Amino acid sequence: MNYQVIVLAAGLGKRMKTGMNKQFLQLYSKPLVIHTLEVFEKDSWCTDIYLVVNPKEKKDMEALVDEYQLAKITKLVDGGAERQDSVNNGLMACQTEDIVLIHDGARPFVAEEAIHQLVESAAEKGAGLLAVPVTDTVKKKEGELLETLDRKSLWAAQTPQGFQYQKIKQAHDQAGREGYRGTDDASLVERLGEHVEIVQGSYDNFKLTTPEDIKKAENLLREREESRLQ
Ligand code: CTP
Ligand code: MG
Repeated sequence: MNYQVIVLAAGLGKRMKTGMNKQFLQLYSKPLVIHTLEVFEKDSWCTDIYLVVNPKEKKDMEALVDEYQLAKITKLVDGGAERQDSVNNGLMACQTEDIVLIHDGARPFVAEEAIHQLVESAAEKGAGLLAVPVTDTVKKKEGELLETLDRKSLWAAQTPQGFQYQKIKQAHDQAGREGYRGTDDASLVERLGEHVEIVQGSYDNFKLTTPEDIKKAENLLREREESRLQ
């Protein structure tokens, strides 16, 4: 089943504290964003990749796309000030009848099998996301009032998130008109009262956010390389 993907790489990577956009970080000899893009380049279900970039980094990204011969990149799209603006620009560039996935450039470990489950779920139900059960006990503190949330009902959202194109386009347009800011794309559909399906993903599909994540990612890449060579 075909899909198109919007890959977001237009952030600043401030929490990574390397003084540059983390997408360019060399991880096991390749830039982070290339690890992510190669997952989709290799997946036969993926027809088009829209890579959302910071306009100031467009030349550098173009050079990487050439170097790694990423043939599925249909367009480099200018990003915006916040993630939601970047997604919005991606949605305007990619007009499709197919399922559209939205994915963080900083999540290189998403598995093809999970992507396929998500695409099928989004085609059937209209909207879905990869998520994992929360393993920590989560406390909610409002003023002096502390509450322990029921872990059984808590999920940590990941990307990709997948949608019928019209559904996510409409949700983003409406959020824009109403000045609503969400921390992910599924939340924009949820607020319209529409169903979003959870597809259980893997804890490996983490987002590289802080410096500690670099070691973790390199260890995982090394393990995978070693098991590939065995
Ligand atoms: N992103 C984007 N456009 C923005 C902000 C974020 O395309 N204006 C992308 C990032 O490049 C990243 C993904 O959205 O792949 C998830 O965001 P996050 O992990 O917060 O990355 P950054 O915003 O780059 O990092 P930070 O918040 O630490 O500055
Ligand atoms: Mg950010």
